[in-house]
This record gives sequence, C-alpha cells and structure tokens, in this order.
Amino acid sequence: MFSKYFWLSLLLAIVYFLYSRGFYEKIKSQLMEGTLNLADTIYFGLNENSSGPKMFTISELKQYTNLENGLYLSILGQVFDVTKGEKHYGLGGSYHAFTGRDASLAFITGEFDDQGLTDDISNLSLRQVKTLDDWVEFYKANYIYKGKLYGRYYNQDGSPTAEFYKIQKKLLLFKKEKALEEAQDRMFPPCNVEWNLDTGTVFWCTNKSGGIDRDWVGVPRMFFETAQDSSRCTCVKLDSKEYEENKARFKEYDDCDKYATKCVLRMNKT
Ligand code: HEM
Repeated sequence: MFSKYFWLSLLLAIVYFLYSRGFYEKIKSQLMEGTLNLADTIYFGLNENSSGPKMFTISELKQYTNLENGLYLSILGQVFDVTKGEKHYGLGGSYHAFTGRDASLAFITGEFDDQGLTDDISNLSLRQVKTLDDWVEFYKANYIYKGKLYGRYYNQDGSPTAEFYKIQKKLLLFKKEKALEEAQDRMFPPCNVEWNLDTGTVFWCTNKSGGIDRDWVGVPRMFFETAQDSSRCTCVKLDSKEYEENKARFKEYDDCDKYATKCVLRMNKT
C-alpha cells in the first residue's frame, strides 16, 4: 500500500519537476522543428538553475577573460567556464582569444583576428558544422556549463533562434549524408592501393579492403561519383544487383583482366 502511493507521488513529483523546467515546451518545439535532441535537452535542462538558464549578454560575457572573474567562453551560444584550463585560456595562453565571447567560427578556421573571431558560421560546410558540434561536446564533457548567450543562437528568454535551428538542420543533413556514404561504401568498398617507383600504382580487392568486412572480394573498377568527377578505385561484385544498376558509373582499368582482383597502373598512365 505504502509503496504504491510512494511510487505514484514520486512519478507526480518528476512530472511536475520536468514541467516546471519547461522540458515539455522545449521538446514540443524541437519536435515541431524536427531537431529533437533529448540528451542535450535533459543535459542542459538539469544544468540550468530553477529560474531557467543563466542568460549572458554579450557585454556581460566580455568580463570573463581573467582569473578574478573567471575564464568563460561561448560556443554556438552555450557558455562554459574554462577556468580550469587556465594554461590554454588564461592571459598569454594560445586560446585566450576564445574567452569572453562567442568565436565559434575560429574553432574551425583557426583565425584569431577580428574577422575570424565571430559567431557567424553560415558559410561552413556540413562537415565543419559537425566538427564544431564535436567541440561543443568536448566542452560539455570537460568543463562547466554556465548558461546561454543572448544573441545569434538564443533569444533573451533562452529559447533557440531560427539560426540555432539552421545549425541543427545542417547537423541532421550531415548525419544523413554520412549514412548514405557509408551505405555506398558497403556496396562499393574502396580498393587497397599501393604505389612504388618500379611497379606503379597497384589496386587490389580483398574481403576487408576499404575497412569493409564482407563475404565477397570483388574486382577493382574506376568509380565516377559524377560524370565530371575524377575516379576512385572501388571493389565491385560483378553479379550484384547494385553493380548492374550503376554500371554506367564504372570503368575497367586498362590492361587489367575483367575478373582480376588486382590491377596495376604503370607509371606513364593515369
Ligand atoms: C583550427 C585550429 C585550432 C583550434 C581551433 C585549436 C583549439 C584548441 C583548443 C580550444 C585547445 C584547448 C583544449 C582544452 O581546453 O583542453 C587546444 C589545445 C591544444 N592545441 Fe589546438 N587548436 C587548433 C590547432 C592546433 C594546431 C595546428 C596545433 C599544433 C601544431 C595545436 C596544438 C594544440 C596543443 C598541443 C594543445 C594542448 C593539448 C594539451 O595540453 O592538453 N592546435 N587547441
């Protein structure tokens, strides 16, 4: 009897706790935008104080560039206390320029001048946005989360801006592209390649080439991603449906038997 009421009250308390911290609103808006990241929502939610996230203004954050106030940096609008990394972020440290501001772009370009120290990352490729997101994960794992920066990525009330969602969409797109690439690598795994002065370039297939473990070996073929692209060597399974459907994108190597698992490209050929 006691335990039934205990569990019920505990459940109600948890539901109220999550509600009071605005979890449902956040999850709802992320679901609508198709950018739900439950782990992040809970991580940041639990690290925010009960009156919501600490919101920093740009001028407030500027004060955190010394050991008296603390060394804080912002990345994609999320503020971290990096004081314990004083050797990197303190005055004279290689990465002092990151403190007191959001210089997300410089995490990718490594350019620490006025133009480089900006939070505008709209020109970054999907892969670069993913690398930047890996930096966010690095700070979450190694430093103390302090709150959000009111500006490009968060509104004054801590809700994400349209720019924030653009980044999330790019991350999603990157994930999809990577999954496609991986699926393609499983169908047409890269060949092993070796070059030496005497023999030239040697391409060969094994049932592990390209790091793809499989129960077939395949034969080397030049693979053209698009008609304009230069080719790369992939191993194809001649009797596979995938090869049959994509035949036009492959070309045999000159002077190499159709069924050979190894082809040699002599020096004077490209
Ligand atoms: C886009 C360029 C780069 C960026 C944004 C960058 C950023 C950083 C950051 C933020 C840290 C501090 C990590 C922490 O808090 O523990 C760091 C550490 C470090 N970086 Fe870089 N870095 C860049 C390029 C380089 C290059 C080219 C080198 C070497 C030639 C280098 C060598 C190091 C070393 C040795 C550490 C210290 C590792 C340690 O003591 O724990 N970095 N880097």
